[in-house]
Amino acid sequence: MKKTVMTFKQAKEEGRKLTMLTAYDYSTAKLIDEAGIDSILVGDSLGNVILGYEDTLSVTMEDMIHHGAAVARGAKEALVIVDMPFMSYQASVYDAVVNAGRLLKEGRAGAVKLEGGASVCPQIKAITEAGIPVMAHLGLTPQSINAFGGFKVQGKSEAAAKKLLEDALRVQEAGAFSVTLEGIPAKLATLITEKLEIPTIGIGAGKNCDGQVLVYQDMLGMFSDYVPKFVKQFANVGDVMKEAFRAYIEEVNAGTFPAEEHTYKIDDDIIEKLY
Ligand code: KIV
Repeated sequence: MKKTVMTFKQAKEEGRKLTMLTAYDYSTAKLIDEAGIDSILVGDSLGNVILGYEDTLSVTMEDMIHHGAAVARGAKEALVIVDMPFMSYQASVYDAVVNAGRLLKEGRAGAVKLEGGASVCPQIKAITEAGIPVMAHLGLTPQSINAFGGFKVQGKSEAAAKKLLEDALRVQEAGAFSVTLEGIPAKLATLITEKLEIPTIGIGAGKNCDGQVLVYQDMLGMFSDYVPKFVKQFANVGDVMKEAFRAYIEEVNAGTFPAEEHTYKIDDDIIEKLY
């Protein structure tokens, strides 16, 4: 059955945990979907793990639409949420609604995600009123990396924790159906989760959020440029891939691949006539 924002609402009401992983292409989305995930996030982390940028700032609307549509083709049941890239919503409410609309029309998203609290509430309200579900994203929001001065845990002081709680309440009031909490102390995430009616999805925010999200390359050990403390590697697929690539190179060099069973046949007399 297709999962929707109603699945998120019901899960919070019933106390059932929500599961989300990122994906950026058709085949991976299909595998994750078939495993039974609730939601697939086409994160702007694609800037790091797919495009090899140092941060997410250079990711474009075209990137998100291209990868969003591929994931949507692979996800039969999971709710596909597509990130709004840097500067696609910050400058004006008009930009935000037009670009969120493109992510649904061209990127086939079921919902969009954007970073920020009170300052982007007018955008969240307008996008929601246009019939587009919005997931908010608070805490260590990677698009604000220059303002934070690096990848630092957020909400540790009393003032910062208070501001995060206020932001969470504001994005809920503006119409967000859920909020991602990234890189904040677990006890603060627990408090926010208890105070909100909408579900919280944690990444580096402890186990008491209503759900969890991870970047799939991180949880499969496929991305080693930077491994945050909150990542658990559920498998070491990176090593398995490298081993298979090495075996392929060796077999091609040795002439043992392709073997007889990998080749197509033709009658010998046809070939002989061509010599
Ligand atoms: O871009 C992304 O993958 C994200 C998750 C890390 C929450 O925003």
